[in-house]
Amino acid sequence: MNPDKTPSNPLESLDQWEDFVEEVAYPEPEHKLKEDYRNYDDPARDCVREFYRLNHEQQTYAFVQEKRKRFIDAPQEQRKMSILDGISFLDTLVDDSDPDIELSQLQHLLQASEAIRAQGHEDWFILTGLIHDLGKVLCLFGEPQWAVVGDTFPVGCRFSDRIVYPEFFDLNPDSKDPRYNTKLGIYEEGCGLRNVHMSWGHDEYMYHLAKDYLPEPALYMIRFHSFYAWHREDEYEYLLDDHDREMLPWVKRFNPFDLYSKSPVPPKWEELKPYYTALIEKYFPAELAWSA
Ligand SMILES: [Fe+2]
Ligand SMILES: [Fe+2]
Repeated sequence: MNPDKTPSNPLESLDQWEDFVEEVAYPEPEHKLKEDYRNYDDPARDCVREFYRLNHEQQTYAFVQEKRKRFIDAPQEQRKMSILDGISFLDTLVDDSDPDIELSQLQHLLQASEAIRAQGHEDWFILTGLIHDLGKVLCLFGEPQWAVVGDTFPVGCRFSDRIVYPEFFDLNPDSKDPRYNTKLGIYEEGCGLRNVHMSWGHDEYMYHLAKDYLPEPALYMIRFHSFYAWHREDEYEYLLDDHDREMLPWVKRFNPFDLYSKSPVPPKWEELKPYYTALIEKYFPAELAWSA
C-alpha cells in the first residue's frame, strides 16, 4: 500500500483523482458511466470524496497566499534541476495501489505528449503535454495531495456550485467571510484570470516554472488545465477578460489529451528520449530553479 496514505492523503494514488474526473465527472461523451462508479459504497469513491472534503475545506484565500509566498515569491529552498531531471524525479512518485493498471507519472506525460504529436500539433504543444504535470513534484516535497491535485478554482470570491462536491465548501471559512463570499469578492468584473488567485496546486507551480519559456497558449494549458469549472462548465465568466476568452479554446483543446489518451501500447521512453531531449533544449535552459 501507499506508505503516504494518511488522513491528510486519502487517495491511494494521485491518479485516483484523475480517474474520477475522467470516468465520473467528465466522461468521454460516447462512453457511458460505468455501473460501479455509481456505487457510493465503493471504497475508492470514498477516498475521492474525502480528498475533495479536505481540498474544499482548506483551500482558502489565506492558504493560497501562504503557498505563493513559500513557493513563488520567497522560496525557502531551490533545487537546480533540468526538465529531464524533473521528469525522472517525478517518476519516483510510485503509485503502487495497483501496479498492473496504474500508469506511472512518466507514462501519463508521454501518452499525452505522444497523442498530441500523433495529431501533428506544434512542437511547443507536444512539449506542453510532456511537462504539464511536473508540478506534482510538490508531493515529493511533502505537500499533501489536496494541495497538489484536484480541480482548481478561484479563491477570494464565491465558490461555484458547479465544482465537484460543492457542499464541502460549507466547511471552508471563506464561505462565511464577507470579504470573499460575494460573487466578485476581492476582484473587479472582467479583471482577467491573470489577476485572480487560483487554489494552490501543481498547475500554478508549473506555470511559474515555465512562464518565461513557452508560448502563451501553452502557459494557459499548464496553468488552467484543472480549472474544470471554467473550461468544462463555463463558470466565472464575470472574471474573464478578452485575453482569457481568446485562450480558452487552447485549454479546451488540451483537455482530451490529458484525460483520454491512455494508450494500449505504452510509449517507450528510451526510444523517445532523444526526440524529447532536443525538444526540451529548444525551449528550456539547461537548469531551472525548482522551489522545494
Ligand atoms: Fe494535471
Ligand atoms: Fe495530466
